[in-house]
Amino acid sequence: MCPPAHFRVTYSINPWMDPAKPVDLPLALAQWEDLRDRYRSLGHTVEVLPPRPDLPDMVYAANGATVVDGRVLGARFAHPERTGEAAAHLEWFRAHGYARVREPEHVNEGEGDFAVTASWLLAGRGFRSSPLSHPEAQEFFGRPVLGLDLVDPRYYHLDTALCVLDDTTDTEIMYYPGAFSPGSRAVLARLFPDAIIATEADASSLGLNAVSDGRHVVLPQAAAGLFGPLRERGYEPIAMDLSELLKGGGSVKCCTQELRDPGR
Ligand code: ARG
Repeated sequence: MCPPAHFRVTYSINPWMDPAKPVDLPLALAQWEDLRDRYRSLGHTVEVLPPRPDLPDMVYAANGATVVDGRVLGARFAHPERTGEAAAHLEWFRAHGYARVREPEHVNEGEGDFAVTASWLLAGRGFRSSPLSHPEAQEFFGRPVLGLDLVDPRYYHLDTALCVLDDTTDTEIMYYPGAFSPGSRAVLARLFPDAIIATEADASSLGLNAVSDGRHVVLPQAAAGLFGPLRERGYEPIAMDLSELLKGGGSVKCCTQELRDPGR
């Protein structure tokens, strides 16, 4: 995670960002600290990446890399405003003993567009990550990549429209069909017949921008419609208020990059 010490909305690269809307920085910091402390209280280790004053979107740490089985695929950002974040993440991994680190050839915005199940990588395209980043990720991780086409600009990253609930299975996800092309919707229905289907109301409070450890699902509090279905399936929803971070177009998941590195 990366604290929003320099978070601001001075440009707009997604429909959620309105530079005319002021950000309450102390509140953003307090909300972010709540999220960090919540992970720690659930027993998770949180590593903190130092924020840089020239990179106001750096708080959205999910976009900086994708880590699976300890292998790190760096990011390459679509927008020049965020380009500098990629090197900061790579530097962190190299300094922390990760040996298998790849600087990508094609545009990919890390876990913004890559989601991990037990055997697959689900991969978004359409707004940010290049379709060419999918075969690149498949080759690097040695996992089948399933490309999914995003069609609604409000859901510009896969992690705004889909969340893996248990990455020890290939079945447990929740998603919002309206964010996907008809063909991708059919693929999702075929592969995940038991998925939790989010309503437009829950998706539009970024309710799917959630992080699950297979038991606890940390998600924006406004997505109240998801709590019941999650509980029915045995998950414990944990509601967070990240209203200030929503002004940049992100919530829980965007602020969280998962280090899948057993045994590091
Ligand atoms: N303002 C950032 C952008 O548009 C938000 C990124 C949100 N991150 C995410 N993982 N969806 O790039």
